[in-house]
Amino acid sequence: MKQTLLITGGAGFIGSHLVRLFVNKYPEYHIVNLDLLTYAGNLANLKDIEDKSNYTFIKGDIVDANFINNLFDQYQFDGVIHLAAESHVDRSIEDPAAFIKTNVLGTMNLLNAAKFNWSDFSGKRFYHISTDEVYGTLGETGFFTEETAYDPRSPYSASKASSDHLVRAFYHTYNLPIVISNCSNNYGPYQFPEKLLPLFINNIKHNKPLPVYGDGKYTRDWLWVGDHAAAIDLIYAKGRVGETYNIGGNNEWKNIDLINKLCEVMDELLDREAGTSKKLITYVKDRAGHDRRYAIDASKLMNELGWKPTVFAEEGLRKTAEWYLENEEWLESVTSGAYQDYYAAMYAERS
Ligand code: NAD
Ligand code: DAU
Repeated sequence: MKQTLLITGGAGFIGSHLVRLFVNKYPEYHIVNLDLLTYAGNLANLKDIEDKSNYTFIKGDIVDANFINNLFDQYQFDGVIHLAAESHVDRSIEDPAAFIKTNVLGTMNLLNAAKFNWSDFSGKRFYHISTDEVYGTLGETGFFTEETAYDPRSPYSASKASSDHLVRAFYHTYNLPIVISNCSNNYGPYQFPEKLLPLFINNIKHNKPLPVYGDGKYTRDWLWVGDHAAAIDLIYAKGRVGETYNIGGNNEWKNIDLINKLCEVMDELLDREAGTSKKLITYVKDRAGHDRRYAIDASKLMNELGWKPTVFAEEGLRKTAEWYLENEEWLESVTSGAYQDYYAAMYAERS
């Protein structure tokens, strides 16, 4: 069926994988990618599909309500998949206001525009992409389910929790046909090298210290970004209106174990003597309010919609490391200029 679909944040890490998937898989859809191209957004992530006839890129800010209303008026979207956000926890600790603006106000502007523009909600869908961080932190055992109470602890997760609540409020109050998913840590190509894996791959490549926060025993549940995009595709098509779906890789690693494994893989790929990269590991001051452990129970999504992750553990880590080494030009371009000063300052503060 033909439809015009708005994807926000499509020039970012996950968004670019999703835009590529939809543009290639659904030639009958018109995919409109709206992105402000902040430091995290990069059109180079979408070079291979930029000339496709079913794809349009628009540079714009979801915080600008007039602009968003006009965009909805102009394109008459049938659906929205909303990913645009400020996404890095450390930056949210430095500047919470930026996160409230984009993640809360921006989401509200999109909800309002959909509500006013969609005179008839039938066949429409507003899909909000969120994070497992809204659930707070786990101890040594247990998993986040869709019923876990919200308990956000960083300005980032508080802003995402707030946006989730707004999305649900628009469903309950106005019957806006929404769906939400909350996903664990993604990894793979095109992730901005401020997040753990691409940052450490880049640092190993340049023989720079690997800043491990606190005792390094924090646990994350890593999901291959392509598996996240496939889950979003399924949920957009078949997820039940008003529902929430958790997405996770069943792939838990303590940070230090993941980092040690990455060091081994990097030594091999860079043809360095075994043990070289591990020497770069440097324990630094912990992240404030650092959540101890995330782990997702994705059984609802698996049982209801038949999704399952396809890439696991070391295989994903190796594929990730290989991609950043093979895509030197991309890595150099996103880590030049202001990036160098930002990370020099960050590291100096933590040491
Ligand atoms: P990202 O930081 O790589 O990309 C975010 C994109 O949003 C960028 O292209 C940026 O330019 C754009 N953007 C930011 N502010 C904007 C604004 N005001 N108007 C328009 N565009 C704007 O983020 P990501 O890691 O790809 O995450 C995408 C979404 O998925 C976010 O909503 C995030 O909360 C969520 N999420 C991420 C992960 C993860 O592990 N990365 C896990 C679960 C959920
Ligand atoms: O769980 C989903 C979330 O995963 C997403 O919602 C966020 O957008 C995404 O950024 C990610 O958040 P994290 O804070 O878990 O990811 P990050 O890569 O920043 O950190 C992963 C772990 O590694 C975390 O325990 C902090 C630690 N860390 C991170 C960096 C950048 C370090 O020890 N050193 C570092 O330099």
